[in-house]
Amino acid sequence: MDKESLNASDRKLIAKLVDAGQQHLFADWDAPGTADEAKAAFLALLKKTDKSYPGGLAGYISNARKLLAEAKRGENPFEGFVPHHPNTIDLTAFDATYDHYEALGQKQFDKVGIVLVAGGLGERLGYNGIKLDIPVEVVETTPYIAHYAACLKAMEARMESPRPVPFIIMVSQDTSAKTLQTLESNNYFGLRKEQVHILKQELVPAISDNDGSLALKEKYELILKPHGHGDIHMLFHTSGLAAKLEKEGIEHLLFIQDTNGQVFNAIPAALGVSVEKGYDFNSIAVNRIPGEAVGGLAKLVREERELTLNVEYNQLDPMLRATVSPEGDVPNDQGFSMFPGNINVLVIRMASYVRILEQSQGIIAEFVNPKYDDESKTSFKKPTRLETMMQDLPKLFGPDEKVGVTIFDRRWSFSANKNNMTDAAAKHAVDSPPESAATAESDFYLAGRMRLAATGTKVDEAAEELILGVPLTPGPKVLLRPSFAMTLAESREKFSGCSISGEATLVLDGKDISLEEVELSGHSALIVKACDGAKVTVKGAFENEGFELVKLTAEELASDSVPEYLRIRGYRFKNRGAATYEFDQPGKYVVGASS
Ligand code: UTP
Repeated sequence: MDKESLNASDRKLIAKLVDAGQQHLFADWDAPGTADEAKAAFLALLKKTDKSYPGGLAGYISNARKLLAEAKRGENPFEGFVPHHPNTIDLTAFDATYDHYEALGQKQFDKVGIVLVAGGLGERLGYNGIKLDIPVEVVETTPYIAHYAACLKAMEARMESPRPVPFIIMVSQDTSAKTLQTLESNNYFGLRKEQVHILKQELVPAISDNDGSLALKEKYELILKPHGHGDIHMLFHTSGLAAKLEKEGIEHLLFIQDTNGQVFNAIPAALGVSVEKGYDFNSIAVNRIPGEAVGGLAKLVREERELTLNVEYNQLDPMLRATVSPEGDVPNDQGFSMFPGNINVLVIRMASYVRILEQSQGIIAEFVNPKYDDESKTSFKKPTRLETMMQDLPKLFGPDEKVGVTIFDRRWSFSANKNNMTDAAAKHAVDSPPESAATAESDFYLAGRMRLAATGTKVDEAAEELILGVPLTPGPKVLLRPSFAMTLAESREKFSGCSISGEATLVLDGKDISLEEVELSGHSALIVKACDGAKVTVKGAFENEGFELVKLTAEELASDSVPEYLRIRGYRFKNRGAATYEFDQPGKYVVGASS
């Protein structure tokens, strides 16, 4: 390949990059005829990265220079800002206020799109596959993606005029093929293919110095790195999807993560808050333990400027010491940090979102975090890159945009599966949330128990046990599927005079199931599934051997013949005779222990 064989667009790109100070990319090219394929692949990759970033590579390099200069000067982005408590609505209690917001939120279901960011590598978990395919529970083995799809269908079933809920999934090079494969091979988990929108984030070039020089691994080989989950905003803009969904009547977008089985518990009420308060940006948050590796949501005030933002946990303590709390990030009367913890579940109002995307081209508050090699901050230990986080959108807000925080009980709304068992055990040992497959499952049942207890059902607790150093409270295992109930009010209508023991299991799947005086004692398990149009009434006491938790042996833990999703939790459940009733024909049914 020589200059003559380059086409016009190659030449244009090279000229643009040379203009942007990137001569080194082409400096020691071999003579024509040598490494031509590598040169062509190199140019193709440059073109792809140029196209995927608004403003192209020249824009990326110019943004990088600006941010690197700021980093070199040691500028503190929060300089002069004083943190205050943000505008919060506390929904940690299941009271009349909670019901009020849930009812409002449910009315909004037909104007909502769900956005799932699922491009992360999941390095800490180290699972050989995508996180969306991991079961959130292993009584019935429901993958996260199947659970989310069921939640969307349940939302649709509760609309006055049902319409499919748009489901936007952001994938990356690491997750794209497997996500598509799981959707295709499971028939989109009952969703319509047209309601699912896949957006793929691309990697960005790494940068080797303060001049924004693109880093090379070797000749003709660019180093690429992830740009972060803030890419979702860029993709919404470049794909035109945000504007399209707005035209179709979508008023709010709800952003969720790949492994948080509880998130839909909080969604109806959080939506209700966004509607009533007119929030442009509403962060679903939890009470934060001081020092915890979770960002704090604070209202930052400097002169007339006021911003409600996530402050990363490592920036929070120094900011507090320099301003309102000389002792730093210390507990309040209830043992919590002054600021609610960000779990990155966001409700964003579409109208303001589309406007801000237009103004910013979807490039949201990029930052750079170079590790310098010398005191003069001239060289880096290794190439860096620009990054962006989805929760930083309010950095672009003006005085007219309203930001609020809605606080929920932690285990009702959040429990992620991020860590492998060894790291989870180490975290537990220092009282930090383990966030593993086992604890996510345990918390999933706990959230089910919370819903059940809110109906007036008597729910016993089982004792916590440790499996390979990770705490687990499996029983009673309560799986009230989204089809069965989305709100507390709806849940309450379906139970009267029931009780469930600490070791029992209850699975209810279907909109029209109700339980009267049902008693599950000992290890008993009851599973009821009803199709649309099947009205099932369950009555009386059930006694059976239910589900037994069986710990994996050392051999099983090391064996490829045991599914990896079990090995990352260290146990399986064995069905020893659960009472199971499935109704796949419409009609009226009564179920009793002897039927
Ligand atoms: P996590 O903090 O869980 O990070 O991301 P991760 O990258 O998946 O896992 P580690 O750090 O490698 O262990 C929070 C959410 O953001 C998504 C993840 O898929 C998860 O839902 N994410 C993260 C993206 O979509 N893209 C990214 O570039 C990074």
